[in-house]
Amino acid sequence: IVTNLLTCGNATLPPHALPPFYCCPPMTTAEPINFTFPDPSEPLRVRRPAHAVGAEYMAKYERVIALMKALPHSDPRSFYQVANIHCAYCTTSYRQANPKLGVQIHFSWLFFTFHRAHLYFFERIAAKLLGEPEFALPFWSWDVPEGMRMPVEFANSSSVLYDPIRNPSHAPPKLVDLDFLGPEKNFTDEQQIQHNLRVMYKQMIGNAALPSLFHGQPYRAGQNDMPGAGTVELAPHNTVHTWTGDITLPNVENMGDYYSAGRDPIFYPHHNNIDRLWQAWRDAGVARGYRGHVDFTDPDWLDSSFLFYNEDARLVRITVRDVLDTEKLRYTHAGVGMPWLDAKP
Ligand code: C2O
Repeated sequence: IVTNLLTCGNATLPPHALPPFYCCPPMTTAEPINFTFPDPSEPLRVRRPAHAVGAEYMAKYERVIALMKALPHSDPRSFYQVANIHCAYCTTSYRQANPKLGVQIHFSWLFFTFHRAHLYFFERIAAKLLGEPEFALPFWSWDVPEGMRMPVEFANSSSVLYDPIRNPSHAPPKLVDLDFLGPEKNFTDEQQIQHNLRVMYKQMIGNAALPSLFHGQPYRAGQNDMPGAGTVELAPHNTVHTWTGDITLPNVENMGDYYSAGRDPIFYPHHNNIDRLWQAWRDAGVARGYRGHVDFTDPDWLDSSFLFYNEDARLVRITVRDVLDTEKLRYTHAGVGMPWLDAKP
């Protein structure tokens, strides 16, 4: 699957969607440049958990969102456009070479790779706007007990990190429910923690022994979209989206629907944890000898590509093979452990 700016058009939105309704990025006549790795001498950005970075660091993330929101909508680095990129890739706004077929990166083997690329550019735009080249995006580590609440900064209604279109009863100190489907479980905190760890074990280990089970099913040019999601995409990924969004709205905006999810500033720390779990799945494979915990080697996967505007507002084509090694992308995640590794139900 490859995308081309000229094939971007109207989004397919659910009934009762909230504006804006058009998700394609700003047009440019310049050909996209091919992605090149950052200089290997660039310091490694260390992405740390939101619950532990401290208020000062979270204030930096707050400043990032304020700076992005202050850019005009026509600027591809504005918050408006950065959120829209996600919408474009999840509403079949892009068409395949056969225009009857749309591009949708969810429910397929493109899930982890698209979002890694999205965060990569988000983080570099953030660093540039802040003027701090080492800025690293915090992650919401909802899979470890210390991170199982929404980080408090997002619940402060006078902060730009606050989104009024959320489920108000899930503000901290409420614990996240990693397989939330709508009904509240009414567990004690201790029960919820144990439940969440078992969900993690099942999705990361028990049911994820092969790349197609973890990443999702193959999705090639000429095929219909949404061939099948991987374990983690279904839960906790989708479930944390739904848990965060406003369940009283028909599409559970903002976080609970693809088209609107990127409008909530918590989307990026949420996906940063998803990104960390991809590495954790590979690490668990090495540590425990799970031989199927390896990425695909299929060229149709490796050669799939996405378009993003970079920190200099240049359009870049990045392939799946470009995003497989985070060290080459010059970032890493600080360790928070994998307490679910032995939470076999
Ligand atoms: Cu692209 Cu969390 O959705």
